[in-house]
Amino acid sequence: MTYSKIAGTGRYLPEKILTNFDLEKIVDTTDEWIRTRTGVERRHVCADDETTSDMCVAAAKEAMESAGVTADEIDMVVIGTTSPDLIFPNIATLVQHRLGIPACPCIGMEAACTGFIYALSTADKYIKASEASCVLVIGAECITKLVDWSDRNTCVLFGDGAGAVIVKPSDEPGIMSCHLGADGQYKDLLYYPVGASNKLEKAGTDEAAIMMSGRDVFKVAVSTLGDVASDTLNAAGIDKEELDWLIPHQANIRIIQATAKRLDLPMEKVILTVQDHGNTSAASVPLALDTAVRDGRVKRGQLVLMEAFGGGFTWGSVLMRF
Ligand code: ACO
Repeated sequence: MTYSKIAGTGRYLPEKILTNFDLEKIVDTTDEWIRTRTGVERRHVCADDETTSDMCVAAAKEAMESAGVTADEIDMVVIGTTSPDLIFPNIATLVQHRLGIPACPCIGMEAACTGFIYALSTADKYIKASEASCVLVIGAECITKLVDWSDRNTCVLFGDGAGAVIVKPSDEPGIMSCHLGADGQYKDLLYYPVGASNKLEKAGTDEAAIMMSGRDVFKVAVSTLGDVASDTLNAAGIDKEELDWLIPHQANIRIIQATAKRLDLPMEKVILTVQDHGNTSAASVPLALDTAVRDGRVKRGQLVLMEAFGGGFTWGSVLMRF
């Protein structure tokens, strides 16, 4: 049987850093409120002329280097993002062209904060079906451009960045199990109201901003993330004690703590970047993975559970031996 395996990781974070103290000057908030409610201390923010595909290209180059892969070896590109450069062409085609990757399937995936998990699961399926042999998978967001910077309920939460991985076939796992889910009944709890349905008429107005019912999102996120983690471990016949690392979507420290508690997992086994990155939506899991790989915490052969939850609602998890 063919499995898929992450052969290399990379990331990009914009140069500009916005601290909670900087935000105190923009909206009626405090460093103390933001830290205690969310765990965020600082976040990276794209420059005005910086795009999601710019960040994808930079993160991809790092991942390709760490996997020892050149552009002509890549035969599929899958990118999870909710802030693509354009409505079309899809972002994966833009990134393919800029990296000089030969003609191949290029998929742009919109699953909000779960985008990377959806993208990685897709790459896994193509490799297992022997329809791809070297897949560039990216989670990237320029989400601060979708935020209303006068709304303290949302603007303190988010940050920008990109994380990339190269996925290749392997004789042994690798990715052991993927679980994806979604339930559109929750569409009004977290959304961005601009699209073709309203002819983009709201773009550029005060209404063009992320809408969120924070408390409701919190409740559903905690219960769903706990369930999807348990389901994934059960499906793979893995005991939670065997896990080396949990790499959760970095939405909020309290959601992460509550999920770890439901799994009886000590926080020492949880990779945290929310303090430095904020919620980078689809970029958060691959950014956290790359951070922990490069600082030596996540090592080859270790058992890692990645999971995410986002607007839709969408959710998903990937269990793997790194
Ligand atoms: N600074 C100071 N006060 C604030 C701020 C702020 N930045 N934002 C809100 N407040 C105020 C509110 O106005 C409210 O004041 P009031 O009581 O006078 O009306 C008070 O703080 C409490 O507001 P709540 O919304 O009840 O605060 P809560 O404790 O629920 O925390 C938060 C809000 C952090 C958004 C929380 O609900 C949460 O984490 N929700 C999850 C949402 C999330 O993570 N979304 C990210 C995208 S989705 C995802 O990635 C899964």
